[in-house]
Amino acid sequence: MTGGSAKGRVAGKRVAVIGAGSVGPGWGNGKAAAVLFAREGGHVLAVDRDLAAAEETAAIIRDEGGSAQVLAVDLTAEGAAATVRDTAAERLGGLDILHFNIGISTRGGVEDTPMADWRRVFEVNLDSAFVLTQTLLPLVEADGGGALVFVSTLAAQRNGPYPYVAYEASKAALCRLSRSIAVEYAARGVRSNTVVPGLIDTPHVLAHVDKGPDVEAIRSGRAAMVPMKRQGTGWDVANAAVFLASDAAGFITGVDLRVDGGMALLMGNASA
Ligand SMILES: NC(=O)c1ccc[n+]([C@@H]2O[C@H](COP(=O)([O-])OP(=O)(O)OC[C@H]3O[C@@H](n4cnc5c(N)ncnc54)[C@H](O)[C@@H]3O)[C@@H](O)[C@H]2O)c1
Repeated sequence: MTGGSAKGRVAGKRVAVIGAGSVGPGWGNGKAAAVLFAREGGHVLAVDRDLAAAEETAAIIRDEGGSAQVLAVDLTAEGAAATVRDTAAERLGGLDILHFNIGISTRGGVEDTPMADWRRVFEVNLDSAFVLTQTLLPLVEADGGGALVFVSTLAAQRNGPYPYVAYEASKAALCRLSRSIAVEYAARGVRSNTVVPGLIDTPHVLAHVDKGPDVEAIRSGRAAMVPMKRQGTGWDVANAAVFLASDAAGFITGVDLRVDGGMALLMGNASA
């Protein structure tokens, strides 16, 4: 390993960021997280099914003097989790932090979500998280423990204006999976938490919404729904993830940390 900083919130930690690229130009959640983990002294394995996207992120990290390796693999493919584990062991010498960022959505409610869409969403958002966790945890535990961070969504807790039943259910289950891991591994040195983003201005959103003629109108419409009157950024999500993965959060496990500018407070049942 070359590069990396001796200083920072995750100095010297070996970090796998799953979905470290971005589906479009600009800063997505995974890309910002990979860069921030590196800025904070981590040795990053940038994992993405899109090699060019992962390489772009790694190039940014290296240009800043940070430490980055690239692995192109689709997490839903057979054996993908084992490839991540073996690559982390070979190229980073182990693993301390797993940041699970990938997630897809298909719009639709109960009536209009085909079973194939339901299965695909669960395969990416939940099944791959479980297999990855099951496969990587022995490596994390063997090195004295570490931290897992899963990126969920406010849609796991609250209904938005449009139905995304498979996305909502899969991401709620992801939060629950994180808490199950948190309890099972609490005495074994591994913490597990989720970040729960609200409306975040990322290339992912523009790639998945019906853009219509005016992208700026979409942006300002989303911002207007947030009490802070702005959308979050990939950096807001990344900062929460780095905090949860860092030793500063050493007594925090099983938490779903909302990063939503207060939006959930407007959506009822503020305690949950
Ligand atoms: N933007 C928002 O408003 C918002 C809100 C709440 C939650 N989220 C969550 O944030 C996450 C995505 O954030 P992003 O901005 O990084 O999105 P993104 O769509 O840019 O995805 C990041 C990377 O993940 C990769 N990827 C997707 N599926 C993969 C797979 N099966 N195997 C390997 N790589 C894969 C993509 O190639 C991409 O480079 C999702 O989990 C999403 O649910 C986003």
